[in-house]
Amino acid sequence: MIKKSVIIPAMIFLIFGCSNTKEVANIVEEKPVTSEYTKDPHSFSRPWEAAVTHLSLDLTVDFEKKTLDGKVSLKIKTSGNVRKLYLDTGDLSINSITLGTIETPTEFRLGEKVDLLGQALIIDILPRTSIVNIYYSTSPKSGALDWVSPVQTAGGKHPFLYTQSQPIFARTWIPLQDSPGVRITYDAKIKVPPELMAVMSAENPMEKNAEGVYNFIMPQAIPSYLLALAVGNLEFRATGQRTGVYAEPELVEAAAYEFGETEAMIVSAEKIYGPYRWGRYDVIVLPPSFPWGGMENPRLTFLTPTVLVGDRSLVALIAHELAHSWSGNLVTNADWNDIWLNEGFTTYIESRIMEDVYGVEYEQMLAVLDKESLRREVENLGADNPATKLKVDLAGGDPDDGFTNIPYQKGRFLLTAIERAVGREKWDDFLRNYFDQNAFKNMTTERFLEHLNSELLADNQQLSDSLNVPGWVYGVGLPDNFPEVSSDLLAKVSESASVWANGGPISDIETDGWTTHHWLQFLREVPRDASKKQMDELNSAFALNESNNPEILVEWLLLSIESGYETAYPALEKFLTEVGRRKFLKKLYAKLAETPEGLKWGREIHEKVRFKYHYSTNLSLDKILNPEKM
Ligand code: BES
Ligand code: ZN
Repeated sequence: MIKKSVIIPAMIFLIFGCSNTKEVANIVEEKPVTSEYTKDPHSFSRPWEAAVTHLSLDLTVDFEKKTLDGKVSLKIKTSGNVRKLYLDTGDLSINSITLGTIETPTEFRLGEKVDLLGQALIIDILPRTSIVNIYYSTSPKSGALDWVSPVQTAGGKHPFLYTQSQPIFARTWIPLQDSPGVRITYDAKIKVPPELMAVMSAENPMEKNAEGVYNFIMPQAIPSYLLALAVGNLEFRATGQRTGVYAEPELVEAAAYEFGETEAMIVSAEKIYGPYRWGRYDVIVLPPSFPWGGMENPRLTFLTPTVLVGDRSLVALIAHELAHSWSGNLVTNADWNDIWLNEGFTTYIESRIMEDVYGVEYEQMLAVLDKESLRREVENLGADNPATKLKVDLAGGDPDDGFTNIPYQKGRFLLTAIERAVGREKWDDFLRNYFDQNAFKNMTTERFLEHLNSELLADNQQLSDSLNVPGWVYGVGLPDNFPEVSSDLLAKVSESASVWANGGPISDIETDGWTTHHWLQFLREVPRDASKKQMDELNSAFALNESNNPEILVEWLLLSIESGYETAYPALEKFLTEVGRRKFLKKLYAKLAETPEGLKWGREIHEKVRFKYHYSTNLSLDKILNPEKM
């Protein structure tokens, strides 16, 4: 796919515009001020000239060739006398292009390849053109498509395919305007091998059909990064009136149990933020190579299997992806520099859903752990690193790099700070109106700040000064008015960890009723230089090497690497071999890379198992393990 190592020079080149090629010039071109569209540094498209409003896909999924092959018809709206349509592509083969329903052939050309961004597709259109038909196929290297072989699935017999379009991979499976500022509706006809089922971020089938042909309609307008497709040996199980799970038959029962409280979460969110506007809310459990915990594809959240732990203790992930149905999917960051508007708001709403469904004390535990993760992230990045700003400048880099803990947790705690300053009732009203007024539109940081000011802060200068929202948004590090959070439940856990670490008997630690969060706190409190004897004691008392909860296991493995506890290494190797979730792998490989022996071992394992990981996961891991080659 698109290589990311030369992004910085490429972008400097683009910004200073020392080029005579048209498609590069496009990147720096000013858009007219009257347009509803903003200029996106990560897209070649010019929606203010001609914007795509609807897609009709007709694709065949070929597991042998690892390609999608077929046609997309784009509905467009043009302004003025526009003669060219600009689209984004990544490694696509464009076979032919026609205009209108009578399909008159037209000319097109592909622009120069730009690392990371792919190639512009520039199509000749007429001023009255409203439909453009593109016949194309994808490359087996497409960054969006993960072709999973049968041995890497739960059932072991059938292949699996899923897409990951966010942030800028939609262009590697569909030629389109790949910017979060452009919204489209879509319909699709997808042909798959008859033993498999296809589902999309759309109205979905609940059963397989004998022909293997599936038709989809998505009537709500969405940005391109929410286009999604999955194909596998899937079964559907309802968990409520408007909720259900798709999974391989081997996992469907476990998934239906784990996510059985989803309806209660929707009810909580609707109470505060207004109606859920997307019809159904289903989830799909993907193979372990899925690099994310979850992805908020509308109507159908995509999930890692690593949250199937049997006790529903990791369902904050569902609260998070569901919350995107307001922040992100309904009101969408205009480009990836505004990502905190998606992820920070979502993390805040996630916390409100968790509080409502599971109680204040439970949510306090999550808040304390989240604040600690943020503190660690700031420490790692350095408190004066521009990456610690909420509004980031990714025009010099990979939008994937913007996804640190900062937009998530610094963003969330800013909203917590505002909530505490103005009072919950006023703040909830504000947010609800914000979602209503901006539904199905995009949002920039600047427009949000204006809106916040005029609606909530303008008549109280003192409040506005003490909150200092611009300081949070445009400043580095963590501000002085960062909200205090505390948890009595976790304080007790810390206390017992410290008594034990100072020689107290392990049998005094009362772990009855401990959830994932208690365990995480406990393991974070164990001294990093714990002795072999202490580690043995923990392992034999709590069977940590055998934990089937990946959050707990990873925390334990990090501690084991740091304290040189080799008894845990087989469990570490097994985990690295079986799990593809990037968040876990990055932490573990980075910890290994802190010592020369660890780095050597980490590289060996990675070489052995990299074929199992997702393309984007390998990119991140290469940056950690082989920085000099990147
Ligand atoms: N939208 C993100 C996943 C994402 C971000 C994909 C950036 C591609 C680029 C999703 O909502 C998310 O935040 N997932 C988190 C969930 C967690 C914070 C609860 C994850 O996967 O870890
Ligand atoms: Zn998210």
